[in-house]
Amino acid sequence: MDIINHGVFFAIEGIDGSGKTTQSRDLVDSLIKNGFNAVYTMEPSKGYIGTFIKKKIIMNKKVSPEVEALLFAADRFEHIDSEILPLLRKGKIVVSDRYVHASIAYQGAQGIDLEWIESLNYFTIEPDLAIYIDVPPSVGISRKKGKKSVFENLESLSKVRKIYQDLVDKGNLTLINGMKKRDEIGKDLYKLALQTIEEKLRSQT
Ligand code: TMP
Repeated sequence: MDIINHGVFFAIEGIDGSGKTTQSRDLVDSLIKNGFNAVYTMEPSKGYIGTFIKKKIIMNKKVSPEVEALLFAADRFEHIDSEILPLLRKGKIVVSDRYVHASIAYQGAQGIDLEWIESLNYFTIEPDLAIYIDVPPSVGISRKKGKKSVFENLESLSKVRKIYQDLVDKGNLTLINGMKKRDEIGKDLYKLALQTIEEKLRSQT
């Protein structure tokens, strides 16, 4: 089922190893099983700038956090134009694995002014619901296998988590406990998503 007039946009956030990719994909699968047209997407995106970030920046930091913030914002605008908006205009449900709050948390954790990061992202579209899946940094790190990104150490992820938690306290992100079992987190997430979809459908009729 497509959502008439306009789709629904979800952003899923969390520190590395929080399970947000698994949960974003599970959410899309559950929505599809329940008859909705849902699509998984992610940041860094699969576009030109996102690919550059993944290859050059994340595994091998060579630029300042300011440049990182600019690159992630540039990738985001490309992501919005080439993927998110066209899907929403077709009435799809879009689930983005990371979005604006990741820049606030990750680049902010490196000492960059949060308002400046927000201003770079001022003209991005607002998600209908932005969710933060919380796990302690030690759990996130222990879950990640293979080569770690430049952000994946206890000190950095503790700062990232603190900013995410502040955004939850301000009401900008909705908290989900990432320490529960995979299917329990999935149920919590689906419930929140369904509420948002129903509210949107009601507002359209
Ligand atoms: P991923 O783990 O979701 O693939 O994201 C890759 C890394 O990119 C992750 O360590 C967080 C980082 N990141 C930022 O630092 N700023 C951003 O705006 C985004 C979207 C991701």
